[in-house]
Amino acid sequence: MKTDPIYIFRKTWATYQKVISNNLMFHREISTAVRMLLDSRPGPLNVLDLGCGDAAHIGKMLNPGQVAEYCGCDLSPYALDVARNNLKPFGIRVNLLCRDMVAVLKEAPENHFDVVYSGYALHHLPIEEKQIFFTECRRTLRENGCVILVDVMLEEEQARPAYLDSYNRAVATQWKALTPQERNQVQEHIRNCDFPETPSVFKVLANNAGLTTCRRLEKHTWHEAWCFLA
Ligand SMILES: C[S@@+](CC[C@H](N)C(=O)[O-])C[C@H]1O[C@@H](n2cnc3c(N)ncnc32)[C@H](O)[C@@H]1O
Repeated sequence: MKTDPIYIFRKTWATYQKVISNNLMFHREISTAVRMLLDSRPGPLNVLDLGCGDAAHIGKMLNPGQVAEYCGCDLSPYALDVARNNLKPFGIRVNLLCRDMVAVLKEAPENHFDVVYSGYALHHLPIEEKQIFFTECRRTLRENGCVILVDVMLEEEQARPAYLDSYNRAVATQWKALTPQERNQVQEHIRNCDFPETPSVFKVLANNAGLTTCRRLEKHTWHEAWCFLA
């Protein structure tokens, strides 16, 4: 059944896995940069991962011995089932929640996490919720804690329609590893779900929340990784 949620999850997730294995969203370079930052924080770390999906990447970027607690949340129960398996080396310090990331952040304890990580999930939220994201991150971060944000971002001065045109053109002309049907699926997802911001807007949102040190870790086309600190 094509309307069955498990079928839809497997279908879109399979396409996303193909995107990752062909490095079309630069997961390789971005993971290397984030891993370097995480390596500089030996821990033990309390980590909150918002929109964790199957947690395959964070599972490789962190060493099990470095983690005191890992809390991941995602709206997809199917992704969390895969995450449970990918995070087995982390043992009992894993807590997976099938919930909205903003709701989880609002209930997160004050002054508790060393790292709040979010990979390719924040662009789903409207700007007001992105502000709440930074405000609540600041509240739940311990001293010297950081937010690590990996996401698609607009070029400075670029508006969403121009982003949609240029990203979808790149998918059409460069993402040859996908079938035409898979490319259509990706383009539809981008049109419906991508609400990216410029790095400057993220800096303002972070500054408003008291996260005043903002450092770019990596950038490849629209795919960026940033670190925000108090
Ligand atoms: C492209 S995947 C990225 C997964 C993983 N973070 C990674 O970097 O590979 C985006 C994930 O965000 C989740 N997501 C989107 N909006 C969300 C929300 N409001 N709350 C929690 N999860 C959300 C989706 O279910 C999906 O698993």
